[in-house]
Amino acid sequence: MLTLLKLLKDGRFHSGQALGAALGISRSAVWKQLQHLEAEWGLSIHKVRGRGYQLSAPLALLNSVEIDEHSPACGWPVLVFDSIDSTNAEALRSIGRGMAAPFLVLAERQTAGRGRRGRKWVSPFAENIYYSLVLRIDGGMRQLEGLSLVVGLAVMQTLRDLGIAGAGLKWPNDVLVGEKKIAGVLLELVGDPADVCHVVLGVGINVNMQMADEVDQQWTSMRLEAGKAFDRNLLVARLGIVLREHLSRHQSAGFSVLQAEWEQGHLWQGRAVSLIAGVNRIDGEVIGIDGQGALRLKVGGVEKVFSGGELSLRLRDDS
Ligand code: BTN
Repeated sequence: MLTLLKLLKDGRFHSGQALGAALGISRSAVWKQLQHLEAEWGLSIHKVRGRGYQLSAPLALLNSVEIDEHSPACGWPVLVFDSIDSTNAEALRSIGRGMAAPFLVLAERQTAGRGRRGRKWVSPFAENIYYSLVLRIDGGMRQLEGLSLVVGLAVMQTLRDLGIAGAGLKWPNDVLVGEKKIAGVLLELVGDPADVCHVVLGVGINVNMQMADEVDQQWTSMRLEAGKAFDRNLLVARLGIVLREHLSRHQSAGFSVLQAEWEQGHLWQGRAVSLIAGVNRIDGEVIGIDGQGALRLKVGGVEKVFSGGELSLRLRDDS
């Protein structure tokens, strides 16, 4: 399937005969593959009698060599998949097979992209970033404290560096522009967190996506915000550089060194919010975060501290 796409990715017309000859298949087999690409991969292909087939827009695909060239200091192996259930799931399988960390898993599309709290992460082909960086943690719990907030901060910084000035954070690790989500972070862990474990830092960034009926929350993309398309290879490279720098500060001094920077990026400082934990809801006002990345809320005039992966925040109507 991808060989056919690579032939078409220049956005020019290619005849069915030429495509069939290049692939060693019949013209009707080409036609079937093209139908599959449209139906399953959501690609739009123009068919013009006498000229052949053309993608509605040229495709720029992920390329590990280009990513390495733009971020040579990162030095972690990059695995790129055309289509996978979830880059986080693949990262966990690779850990299970004994692959040495750090390494990075990327995909052009995910068929079962995972979001926080059991949600689905909509992951169309060649439009966004689906990124899972695997780290080995052998420094105990301290190295895990606030880690998901560190990743959110690095994503926000990367987006701002690339011109998305309105990108900001929502505790614990969403990246928003205004009230619309532009990126999300999902950490998954295997092993013993108190001893040696592996953590998968999963990042989804809406890059060039312009339409997605299936997304069940307010969302935006870099392209919608900036009015231009972005080079995803450059973005992956830039994210790697920023993430590496933030992770190294976190590793050597703990989360508290990034606390002030995180709060500066927090869009909901001082806002009236509801904290949702399953069926329970706590109303309060955001004070900020503590040195471990836990949320500090003023509830009924008293400060309370909350942490945990299943919590989420909503703005209150009166905020
Ligand atoms: C969220 O709900 O905000 C977290 C979304 C995380 C999505 C990314 S995409 C790459 C990685 N693989 C997954 O299946 N999920 C994460």
